[in-house]
Amino acid sequence: MKQITCLIMSSILGLSLLLTACVTEPLLPAGSLTSDPGLETPCPDGIISFKYEILPLIVSNCASEGCHDAVSREEGVVLDSYTNIMKEVKPGKPSGSKLYKYLLKGDDDVMPPPPLPPLSAEQIELVKNWILQGAQQTTCGDACTPEAASFAANVYPTLQQFCIGCHNDNNLQGNVNLKDYSHIKQYVDNGKLLGSITHQAGFSPMPPAGNKLSDCRIAQITNWINAGAQND
Ligand code: HEC
Repeated sequence: MKQITCLIMSSILGLSLLLTACVTEPLLPAGSLTSDPGLETPCPDGIISFKYEILPLIVSNCASEGCHDAVSREEGVVLDSYTNIMKEVKPGKPSGSKLYKYLLKGDDDVMPPPPLPPLSAEQIELVKNWILQGAQQTTCGDACTPEAASFAANVYPTLQQFCIGCHNDNNLQGNVNLKDYSHIKQYVDNGKLLGSITHQAGFSPMPPAGNKLSDCRIAQITNWINAGAQND
């Protein structure tokens, strides 16, 4: 009905421009998600996001308790923020950057140290390319729609990016394993997954360093849980 009125109005006024004003606004929940860079600024083609790709990768693989977190400072190295990470990086020069060189080492000095598994070839390549792109503090992110709420397409990739580096068989921080659906489901059911990512009182705020998950990713996880937390 609204659209028809719009159409009539437009034709009466003969202004096609007016038609565009009648197009329904895209669906976004009330409250504002405009602070979410994942919604606002998709990365230009090929550009790597420091905030959404590099920082969570480094934090979850390197800034665990006992390693390079702000408390432990192994070898004086802290890897929990752009400023601190840049102490180990020479922009444009992966081979001159300790951050990259240690990921590649073929001996016991490799990072993360055994028994932790090394980063995958793709993850190492990502760090290398980010350094080659000038090691900028890019904050662009993947497009993210809060309504999308599938485990495989949305929830798991977020947890993999931000959490599982500290919560898997080899790195059981806080004795919490989030390696797959059945493990993650236990933390859905006891309320700790949502409590920790939303920084509710009484739960340990997660991730413990780096950025809180964006509003949009938290909305996706919440919507997925509200829809029954299926393995979909
Ligand atoms: C740098 C390592 C690290 C990362 C990354 C990390 N965690 Fe944790 N997590 C810990 C440690 C250490 C603890 C236990 C210490 C504590 O409870 O404060 C913990 C505890 C937890 C707990 C139990 C909380 C509670 O209140 O009992 C949950 C649930 C959890 N993490 C989920 C997550 C999720 C979800 C993410 C990603 C958004 C994440 N973690 C990212 C290190 C990490």
